[in-house]
Amino acid sequence: MSWEENVRKVVPYVPGEQPKDKNIIKLNTNECPYPPAPGVRDILENKLKYEDFRLYSDPEAHALVNALSKYYKVPEDQIFVGVGSDDVLSMAFLTFFNSDKPVLFPDITYSFYDVWADLYRVPYKRLPLDDDFKIHFEDYYAENTPNGGVIIANPNAPVGIFEPVSEIEKVIEHNRDSIVIVDEAYIDFGGESALPLIEKYDNLLVVQTFSKSRAMAGMRIGYAFGSKKLIRYMQDVKFSFNSYTMNRPSIELGAAAIEDDAYFKDICGRIIKTRERVKGELKELGFTFPESRANFIFAKHEKISGDELFNALKAAGIYVRHWNADRISEYLRITIGTDGEMDKLIAFLKEYIEKNK
Ligand SMILES: Cc1ncc(COP(=O)(O)O)c(C=O)c1O
Repeated sequence: MSWEENVRKVVPYVPGEQPKDKNIIKLNTNECPYPPAPGVRDILENKLKYEDFRLYSDPEAHALVNALSKYYKVPEDQIFVGVGSDDVLSMAFLTFFNSDKPVLFPDITYSFYDVWADLYRVPYKRLPLDDDFKIHFEDYYAENTPNGGVIIANPNAPVGIFEPVSEIEKVIEHNRDSIVIVDEAYIDFGGESALPLIEKYDNLLVVQTFSKSRAMAGMRIGYAFGSKKLIRYMQDVKFSFNSYTMNRPSIELGAAAIEDDAYFKDICGRIIKTRERVKGELKELGFTFPESRANFIFAKHEKISGDELFNALKAAGIYVRHWNADRISEYLRITIGTDGEMDKLIAFLKEYIEKNK
């Protein structure tokens, strides 16, 4: 008997690389290529006082919750905030997925879901996407697959496909005895949120993040909307885990980011425009991809393997994401950067494909 037998062993999630070299064109972790809203800088430079850091932060993160409440027109007691949506999702797994029946999610989706399920010892079942990487929604109905909860990313990652909210609603309707989580990390790039449905269904949790469309991945802010009861259960777990999840800068700077709606809409619009332009250029180079409504494109080349292209791009200082996993090993997930960055990507690919086809 060794102490190691009692260790909670897990296979951790592997995040995308964060290179030190600032010259790398970083299209590998779906960050925003633009800076946060100007109001964020103003608070950072003029309002945050370093001497205040000796005090604990507000355990309720009230300033941030209040800004979210005003912006999304959702009462404060229906909002939960956390350290990135990873923290929010992890708390939601811990709170709501506590059954002997499996939690359901697609076979190709955000690869943290099975890690949390393993960590919290929750059984799970991956339901296959179809050959076009689309979700087969009826598989998620409780009468077809009895379950202890459902989590769906919409748009789904890493494929980028946005599925109609009407399909999500049917999944909720067919699962009134379990919690349905909709992970909307990429919703602001052309999707439609399931948020209005929280009025109708007390078993729905909608999760979003500041990391993509609000250009604040490094501040680590995520949030969720749900019925009052659902949020209260999550708060109880959070306060049994760590009361002060949100630090002072995140609370203040997050609130400032939410308040600048014009800037938010502008950068989302720019990313969408660049994405649509890059889709055309990738097609011309022989790439195919599912229709993306996220800030990335999941693309495969007709002749050159995913592994080869990933390595060639990396050697050229252009980082994208690639998984040596079943069904997706030929694909690259390419984050939408600035127009200049995407020009360099396309120019490199053009030359490489020309030389190596
Ligand atoms: C689908 C999905 N959900 C959640 C996250 C977590 O984002 P964050 O913790 O930065 O909010 C990511 C990050 O890439 C993601 O792709």
